[in-house]
Amino acid sequence: MLRVLTAGESHGQALTAIIEGLPAGLELDLTRINCLVRRRQGGYGRGTRMKIEKDRVEILSGVRGSVTLGTPLTLVIYNRDWENWQEIMAVGPEAKLTERVVHSPRPGHADLAGGLKYRQTDLRNILERASARETAIRVAVGAIAAELLACLGIKVQGQVVAIGDVQASGEVKIGEDKLLYGNPLYCVDQEASLLMIKAIEEAKKRGDSLGGVVQVIAEGVPVGLGSHVQWDRRLDGRLAQALMSIPAIKGVEIGKGFSTASLFGSQVHDEIEYQEGQGFRHRTNHAGGIEGGISNGETLVLRAAMKPIPTLTQPLASVDWHTKKPTVAAVERADVCAAPAAAIVAEAVVAWVLAVVVTEKFGGDHFEETLLNYRNYVEQIKK
Ligand SMILES: Cc1cc2nc3c(=O)[nH]c(=O)nc-3n(C[C@H](O)[C@H](O)[C@H](O)COP(=O)(O)O)c2cc1C
Repeated sequence: MLRVLTAGESHGQALTAIIEGLPAGLELDLTRINCLVRRRQGGYGRGTRMKIEKDRVEILSGVRGSVTLGTPLTLVIYNRDWENWQEIMAVGPEAKLTERVVHSPRPGHADLAGGLKYRQTDLRNILERASARETAIRVAVGAIAAELLACLGIKVQGQVVAIGDVQASGEVKIGEDKLLYGNPLYCVDQEASLLMIKAIEEAKKRGDSLGGVVQVIAEGVPVGLGSHVQWDRRLDGRLAQALMSIPAIKGVEIGKGFSTASLFGSQVHDEIEYQEGQGFRHRTNHAGGIEGGISNGETLVLRAAMKPIPTLTQPLASVDWHTKKPTVAAVERADVCAAPAAAIVAEAVVAWVLAVVVTEKFGGDHFEETLLNYRNYVEQIKK
């Protein structure tokens, strides 16, 4: 079983992850892995923190000579901002606990609920872990998953399809990375992205923030990942959970998603045909590549709605944590819009779930065993 845990505070020394269950013999390209990690830092609308950080993941265990050993991988991304915070965030008794205290909870953040639940006097103790800085290490984890998927011909790509009320148009297909990520919005529609930039700038001027919709496409996914037999084996459920676990994601749809609710069955379901040599196919892909909780061999199409960033430079009303008097919400350094970064995080978490279900289905202590099982299965399915 492939599993992972992450740790680390936003202004702590480092973010870490331990991955267990990767087969031995999988070659990893650290340059490619770090390319995705750096991409998460980009995108139009980010705050100044991303100018400080130059994220780069290091692998401390589980790999020798660029090849996995079948032992747990330890990943680490050091926070450059730690330099400015080491006295405040120190692990030992020397920590300066009376500095940079957060006492006005931000609407839309974990500050209030977390502060009450964990009985904190300083809400920083909540926001440090609730911060989406954690997604940096999750992208590194997803990038490692993507290495495994790539060896099986599965490619996953995230992109932005809306910012605020500006919608991109265009076909759902994997784009050329250079073109897509050369665009500051990580959006294929160049015209719409100019309007998106304008919308972000207007929000920024008003001290406000904006959300958006991100889309993840996965091509080359074989039929048969996930299962209908038990609720927690359904691929749609597992992907939705992974996407919903990204901070600020408030809705997930698969294929035509919410729009199917207002259509007739004949407009929604994808007719089936059989082609010699190709096997069974669907004429359309409204289902987004999953039927009955099982991948059906078509391209996976997932969308996630991101709410606007909660930290506003024109802060909303709040209440002081200690005096209980009305005040305004705390202001931390923040992004105005992080939908492009969220598209990369979404790509990473989808890659992770796909790697989990792939290893579940094809097994293998060594990757060659995984590959052999995979190839046998794909051949058999075609027949
Ligand atoms: C890539 C990314 C960057 C984010 N940047 C910020 C930020 O700079 N400031 C902020 O307040 N929230 C930011 N968020 C959103 C918060 O982390 C999130 O809204 C908060 O943790 C509360 O969780 P919830 O929105 O899921 O309820 C970001 C989210 C993502 C995915």
